[in-house]
Amino acid sequence: MQVASFDSYAELYDEHFTYSPIGLLQREMVYSHLIPLLNKEKNVLELNCGTGYDAFEIARQVNSILATDVSPKMIEQCRTKKREEKTANIDFEKKSIQSLEPELKNKNFIFSNFGGLNCISPNDLNDLSIKCNLLLEKEADLFFVIMGRKCIWERLYFTLKSRKKDANRRKLTQGVTAHNNDTEFKIWYYSPKEIQQVFGPNFKIQTLAGVGLFVPPSYLNPFFRNKKALLSLFNGLDKVFCKFSWTADHADHYILHLKKVS
Ligand SMILES: C[S@@+](CC[C@H](N)C(=O)[O-])C[C@H]1O[C@@H](n2cnc3c(N)ncnc32)[C@H](O)[C@@H]1O
Repeated sequence: MQVASFDSYAELYDEHFTYSPIGLLQREMVYSHLIPLLNKEKNVLELNCGTGYDAFEIARQVNSILATDVSPKMIEQCRTKKREEKTANIDFEKKSIQSLEPELKNKNFIFSNFGGLNCISPNDLNDLSIKCNLLLEKEADLFFVIMGRKCIWERLYFTLKSRKKDANRRKLTQGVTAHNNDTEFKIWYYSPKEIQQVFGPNFKIQTLAGVGLFVPPSYLNPFFRNKKALLSLFNGLDKVFCKFSWTADHADHYILHLKKVS
């Protein structure tokens, strides 16, 4: 379900999200937290890398990055970019999060951006946490960008459209059917507390911050396309407010940075 859906979306993904006004602003917010943590000591494993935009950005800062995704078409996009950019310290591999195991060894920074972890079930998330607990060394970083449960924009937008079910969909624990173009895939929403509980006491929280509290979810790109000044105002407000941890679960996404302490 996930593979077919993201395969069908791979060619349009950069146009629809990566280079969209909202996609660029939300990613800029992620980078304001991510980039200062990177240095040439870091060997990064990226989960659900999509079309690879982050991998090239990260490669400039670190020793090495292995970027993985379950979708062959997404990985094809990454490899095409790699041939063009000729970046030596990036590798791309078609790998599901569920099948990662040897790849976690010798890595000290695990990165997942923009809801990749929302594409796996609570059981699979639990398995990932067990592997991270077993295989990562002390001091390893987990830097996750996840969709939380209480996004204010989403509740407001769908309530105004009289779509009550969609307004409340993030509260559901059994997962929700979502769409890329005309294809279906399943997502599960997770609050910051749920993720912290799954990873357990060996991982201590370093940062919890919102991404997209005032800047809206990307499905509102068509509405905001010609409202650059308003988006810029929202971005300014996010820079002020999103650093407070209480915004995390109320924003479209949140950043959770954990460090392995034992
Ligand atoms: C919303 S996109 C995010 C892509 C990228 N991280 C970004 O920042 O633009 C979600 C990605 O997760 C991938 N994905 C979904 N389920 C996955 C799984 N079980 N294992 C690995 N990747 C998965 C999809 O193929 C897709 O590329």
